[in-house]
Order: sequence, then structure tokens, then C-alpha cells
Amino acid sequence: MAKSVEEVRAEIPFLRTGTIYLDNAATTPTPQPVIDAMLEYFSEYSGNIGRGLHRVTRRASEAFEKTREKLARVINAKPGEIAYAKNTTEAINIVARGLKLRKGDKVVATVLEHHSNLLPWQRLERERGVKLELVQVSRECLIDPAAVEAAIDDKTRLITTHHVSNAVGSIQPVEEIGKLARERGVLYLIDAAQSVGHMPVDVRKLGCDFLAAPGHKGLLGPQGTGFLYAREDRLAELEPLLVGGGVVELVEEHKYDLVKPPQIFDAGTPNIPGFIGLGRACEYVLDIGVEQIAKRERKLTEQMLDISGFERVEVYGPHELKRRGSVVSFNISGLGHHDVASMLDELARIAVRSGHHCAQPTMHHLGVEGTVRASVHYYNLEQEIEKFTTTLEQIARELGG
Ligand code: ALA
Repeated sequence: MAKSVEEVRAEIPFLRTGTIYLDNAATTPTPQPVIDAMLEYFSEYSGNIGRGLHRVTRRASEAFEKTREKLARVINAKPGEIAYAKNTTEAINIVARGLKLRKGDKVVATVLEHHSNLLPWQRLERERGVKLELVQVSRECLIDPAAVEAAIDDKTRLITTHHVSNAVGSIQPVEEIGKLARERGVLYLIDAAQSVGHMPVDVRKLGCDFLAAPGHKGLLGPQGTGFLYAREDRLAELEPLLVGGGVVELVEEHKYDLVKPPQIFDAGTPNIPGFIGLGRACEYVLDIGVEQIAKRERKLTEQMLDISGFERVEVYGPHELKRRGSVVSFNISGLGHHDVASMLDELARIAVRSGHHCAQPTMHHLGVEGTVRASVHYYNLEQEIEKFTTTLEQIARELGG
């Protein structure tokens, strides 16, 4: 039996604060079983990993490694294809730095990437002369695969796009883009920051070479955790970002041999409690059922979209519900986005994000400086959305211009 909304709510201590938390695209609150898994590590076996043979280190190493299996189950990968990272940004940087791209190589992305999937490529452009082409998108913030295809030339090494836009919520045609990347012999990296845990993500179906995702959003894991999926052969091609302790086979005065992937990406003492918590979070999300999560989030998103009928409110992103993730981004005419977010907090203790959402080019595309963004997860209640829509209607009616 899938976990009910009530059961999940009862297990998230943060919700007892009474906050109506609609900022799940930034980070999500942590369920007690995930907290307990981390507490158990701290109180019962808080040793380092892969360093020694005593029972504490063995238990910690085993629990840390197990999370690869659990993440692999969530996205239909193999445990050996999962590299740990501290967040999506680091996972994307592992690909950007690790691929050894050179002057003249081309990377194709879109104008809707958030900064995590833009700056690493811009840096390669600046430092190595890699060419970065940003494909334009529709007014509704949808990518046309034909436009991506048109940007591919014989120098193109990699295509990268987000799966779901963090700023406006559009779901992109990643399967079609994956297909054309394969046909054209180009690598494909998906930034899945807003999709993993929120909706079914199957890397075999998507046919991508790489996929970067956080632990602390859709998966309900702790902050400071994320991962990179890379097809087994691709992972072996990547140079790790860091070298140092914990990843060596042999070190001499002037040379070293490193361990094999995926452990090659774990230089230094990693976030051991965080990844143990993330393993428990994967089980938790699988217990609810990712399909169930997607279904419920779609219903809540549809309810949030009532605001598009309000006077003075403009909602951005796709019109079709099936092209939307669990994010609704909007503005009220005559009011600043930060003011609206502050009023929602002051009047009804509703937490939403305001600003450019770490996606300034998306804001340029929309012709605005920023938006207000409400984003849900499975545990949100219909009554909470109702409170959000009625408070927003009141703000727009009384103060909008
Ligand atoms: N990228 C995260 C967000 O969209 C932090 O809020």
C-alpha cells in the first residue's frame, strides 16, 4: 500500500511549524525516517568509509555504498553508474570538467537552463574556447527538438537540457532529444533537478548519457547530496573533479593510480550521513510510489493554476497541464515579485520563492526581472493550495495595479 498524504505529513516534523511550504523546487523538508537514518549513523557507527577494517568503518562503508543501489532503482540504472555529488551543480561540473572538451568543440544548451547548467559551459567557453550555442525556446518555454537538431554540427560533442524548468515548470521533450542525440552521435546530459522523485525518470527510456539530480528536492533527502548518473562506459571517460585521499590504488612520490568509477569521485571524506539519509529517502519515495507522487502533484498544480484566471495575474509557462511539472510561476501587475512573496508570508505564512530563480536568461526570455514561484510536493494539501489562491486573489484585487 502506498503511503497516504496524512501518513507522510505526520512524518515530516517541519510541517508542525504551521508553514504552508510551497518552495519545494528550492529544497524539501525532511521526513523523520530519513532524519532517523542519519541519527543512527551519528549515534551507532559514525566512522569514516573505506579506511580501515574495524567494524565501525565496515558498517559505515556498507551503508554509504548501498545508496547507489537505491538511487539506481529510482532511475532504472545500475549502481555502478551512480557517482555521488554534493548537488546537481557539482554533478554537472563533473561532466563539464571531466569530458576534456577542447577548443572548437561545441556544446548545445538552451536559453532556459538554470545557472547550474549554464555557468559550467560558459566557463569552458571562456577558458578553453569551447563554443556554447543556446537554442531559443517558445514563448511558453518549451524546447522544440527540431531547433536542437538544427544547432548540431560536426563539432558538437554534447547536448544538455533541463528536464523540467525550475523557473516556470515546463516539461521538456527529453526522450525526443535523447533520440536525436543518439542518431547524430552526440552525448546528451539531462539536468533532472526538478524531475527525479517528482515523476518517473527512466534513464534507459530517456537514452541519455548523463543525468544530474539533487537528493534534497524530489527525493526528500538531506541538503548537500546529489548524484550523477552516467552510462557505465561514459563514467569511465570522466576525469574526477578532485583527487586525494580515499580514491587511490597506489601512490608513489610522483605518480598515483586511482580506483575505478564510481568510487573515483569520492575523494576526501564525503558527506557520509547525508548519503545514508539519501538512501533512506529513496526507499521512502519508492514506498509512496513515484507514479502516485506525479499524479498528486499534477492535481495540486492544476489547482494552483486557478490563479491564471485572476485579474492582474500573469502565469508563465505551458498552457497544457501535461507539459507542466509541479511549479507555477507568475507575477501580479503593479506589484514587485518580492513584495508579493513577502505578503504571502506575512498574511498567511505561505513560503514561496521570488526573484530570478537562478535562471536569469529565462527571465530575459520572459521579459521580466523575476517572478513569484510556488512549487508543490506530494505532501501538500488541497486546503493549503486553497489558502494560497484565496490570499493571492485578495492581494491582486486590493493591491495590484
Ligand atoms: N535551483 C533551486 C531553485 O530553483 C535552488 O530554487
